[in-house]
Amino acid sequence: MLNTSVSSAPICENFPLFCPREVSGSDLALAFRLRDADVNLCEVRRPLEQALAEELQCWTGTAAFTAHGRVSVLPDSIEAFLKPFAEGQSKIFFRQELARLLPIFTALTEVAEPTLTLGIVDHDACRKFHTDEVGIRMLCTYTGPGTEWVPNAGVRREHLGRGDIAWQEANALVLGKDTVTQRSGEGDLLWLKGEAWPGNRGWGAVHRSPSVQGSGVRRLLLKIDMHPCAC
Ligand SMILES: [Fe+2]
Repeated sequence: MLNTSVSSAPICENFPLFCPREVSGSDLALAFRLRDADVNLCEVRRPLEQALAEELQCWTGTAAFTAHGRVSVLPDSIEAFLKPFAEGQSKIFFRQELARLLPIFTALTEVAEPTLTLGIVDHDACRKFHTDEVGIRMLCTYTGPGTEWVPNAGVRREHLGRGDIAWQEANALVLGKDTVTQRSGEGDLLWLKGEAWPGNRGWGAVHRSPSVQGSGVRRLLLKIDMHPCAC
């Protein structure tokens, strides 16, 4: 039986008439709920098996790489993207993983060759809670802390994008009084609907990178975007 939950009619602070919702569960097809105008975030929970987690942890500890490029669902395209990586269990896993995820992403977005980035993150890319200027983005952290996100009902959107204050102060303002920040686990798929998705302007999913800079923690992160972008 599928484990799926949909937040029920959240109420956004200062926006009593509309509030987007988030969905979560264990079914990969849950991502298609992003087609609903009132859903802006989907989290598919997939705890990694211990043997795979240990293999990926080992890979993350030794690898120094980032692969980036446009990839289609065709096996040759996936193979070309993974070419820089040495053959082994981790590469076999990612061959299967991309063959699993790309058909979902392309069907959802109708983008035949999305842009993928797979690599190590050991710095704080985006400390402030923010929305992305993209259509749909998928993030998966395989080792290390996952992306943090904020339930819609707990976001004070009027404080997003504050460039005039430090990240700690900005984040405190964005979070509502009793808001609990969520964090995706290793292997979870986090699907974010951004500001550029048709009809979603002003209602992008609010998230941030976990803080790892200077800690020695390395995250192994896969990012799938509809289009190449600098964000
Ligand atoms: Fe972001």
